[in-house]
Amino acid sequence: MSGHADAVNRTTRHPASSGRGSSVGVAPAVSAPGFMALSPTWQQFTSYLELGALPTAVSCARLHVRQVLWEWGLGELAEASEAVVSELVTNAYETTVRHRLPAPIRLRLSSNGQQALIEVGDGDRTPPSRPGATGTGDLPPETAESGRGLFLVAALSERWSCYRLSERGKVVWAEVAP
Ligand SMILES: Nc1ncnc2c1ncn2[C@@H]1O[C@H](COP(=O)(O)OP(=O)(O)O)[C@@H](O)[C@H]1O
Ligand SMILES: [Mg+2]
Repeated sequence: MSGHADAVNRTTRHPASSGRGSSVGVAPAVSAPGFMALSPTWQQFTSYLELGALPTAVSCARLHVRQVLWEWGLGELAEASEAVVSELVTNAYETTVRHRLPAPIRLRLSSNGQQALIEVGDGDRTPPSRPGATGTGDLPPETAESGRGLFLVAALSERWSCYRLSERGKVVWAEVAP
């Protein structure tokens, strides 16, 4: 699996949904291995992408999120969602390379018609360190060795967290609202 050429991309609008966005598929649900089952509201729009652990993964993920959100009629979420997915995929890429994990980086983008749910899976079971461990809520200083990426994710999203579904890895997710 390597880069854009090997990206696996599936996207759909649920047939039962109505409102914004044009239909880009008729499948009742997108198959996304390694992710938790989505509640029905989040199934209104769903997309799944696999990326090789290459530096290009981040820009591929950004482009994918931008294009798919516009397709769903949710372009106002694109800027914040791109920034969030950029940080999450960067972290997934770094941990995949650091541990030489064979698994691809997995991205599921979903929407309930108003908000975006961004989930990024990698093959490392270690959850990310929470930013703001000092409890101040301040931006980590420029001298800080880590923590700025997830600080940005926290600032741009309604909430974010991580889950482990199997022995093989974890998923870090964030919800972006208008
Ligand atoms: N997907 C991940 N898998 C494992 N560890 C992670 C992951 N994402 C983040 N982390 C850990 O949390 C720390 C904070 O992440 P982040 O806020 O993005 O800061 P930075 O990337 O600058 O180190 C990282 O240094 C890393 O140790
Ligand atoms: Mg980071």
